Amino acid sequence: MDSILVTGNGPLSGSIPIAGAKNACLALMPATLLSDEPLTLTNAPRLSDIKTMTALLESLGGEVSRMQDGKVLALSSHDLTSSWADYEIVRKMRASNLVLGPLLARTGQAQVSLPGGCAIGARPMDLHIEGLEALGAEIELKDGYLHAKTAGGRLKGAQFEMRFASVGATENIVMAATLAKGTTVLTNAAREPEIVDLVKCLRAMGAQIEGEGTSRIEIQGVDRLHGATHQVVADRIELGTYMLAPAIAGGEVECIGGSLDLLGAFVEKLDEAGISVEATEKGVKVRRRGDRIKAVNVRTEVFPGFPTDLQAQMMALLCTAEGTSMLEETIFENRFMHAPELTRMGARIEVHGGQATVHGVERLKGAPVMATDLRASVSLILAGLAAEGETVVSRVYHLDRGYESVEQKLSACGAKIERIKE
Ligand code: EPZ
Repeated sequence: MDSILVTGNGPLSGSIPIAGAKNACLALMPATLLSDEPLTLTNAPRLSDIKTMTALLESLGGEVSRMQDGKVLALSSHDLTSSWADYEIVRKMRASNLVLGPLLARTGQAQVSLPGGCAIGARPMDLHIEGLEALGAEIELKDGYLHAKTAGGRLKGAQFEMRFASVGATENIVMAATLAKGTTVLTNAAREPEIVDLVKCLRAMGAQIEGEGTSRIEIQGVDRLHGATHQVVADRIELGTYMLAPAIAGGEVECIGGSLDLLGAFVEKLDEAGISVEATEKGVKVRRRGDRIKAVNVRTEVFPGFPTDLQAQMMALLCTAEGTSMLEETIFENRFMHAPELTRMGARIEVHGGQATVHGVERLKGAPVMATDLRASVSLILAGLAAEGETVVSRVYHLDRGYESVEQKLSACGAKIERIKE
């Protein structure tokens, strides 16, 4: 297993290109199952999760061709041969469950393994199930698999109010509803930019959908969808992550290809902490105003609130703030595993359930630390940028799931960072 070596090296300066959004691409790729015509995705990120989704689609009979070094994906599911999403793939990546809605809508059946828990939480699928059952699906759990079929041959439009604005459940239900007979109204729908991006792509395929980005999405079912070409939206979590690099290390960095409207409450929090954020024609420019950021309180919420996927990175920043910060994680039940690793670097953090109190220290000290999940891994790298001495982050296979070429992107801005191949 590779590791990443980071040596605190002072302020950063330069620009970082932001890739296409992993979490948009992982919903856009299963959309190919809704049509027998080709779907082309441009600005696709080159990540291991994309390779996992490719393997899953190919196991169903789909085809995925990588072009331009993986930035363009040509997908086709003209000849589906299976509706079985195997545990071996699903357990590695929960987003595999996004084939459930499209398979049901296209073929009338699906057998999708339950993902099982992951490091950050139990991650059940009850909202996906309830929503698809509202559309007329019959879903039974057997041997760890959801066995789903559409009673009477075709899903039927319905009204469905989600107990919680689940991103994945919104995506599965919206994709299934595009081919249902009649109108579907989904309320308390997730509003994340990845949902907006998915709907733009579905509309390009001929779907009739309104309300994306709001809590109420209305879908008029159609008989079939056709092919399309869609550009994947910029990755707001990668963008927010790299905006925190100059915030932690000092200096000024321009993130190319990102935009402020993708970030919701995150931008206000940076301003409150003493970080200047400026929209430029190419993206977003970030600089720390003083020598030390100010403590702020953070509560993660569904979009447009503060994103849970940036909580670990924000905690790394607040470890060296002037004052005490409170972080409240309301989306996942176990998303503070980066705290003990940051503590090894001299951070002062007290975790009680979903709350973490961070007492800022002058400077962190480099140390060997272990990545526990995707976003925790990059928060440890951010901490290493400003720490005294060397930080070695192990288990970076977590990192490779969601971040392209981290060491290249940060080195280009003056960071001392390299990958140690096992
Ligand atoms: C998506 O996961 C993202 N993944 C996650 O990003 C992100 O953290 C999450 O949304 C929240 O923004 C992808 O888009 C591939 P949810 P998803 O359904 O869809 C509970 C990353 O780091 N819930 O909105 O699985 C669930 O347990 C990843 O890139 C139910 O109770 O998230 C969790 O507590 C991590 N029942 C909360 O809702 C359900 O049926 C949020 O889950 C579904 C979810």
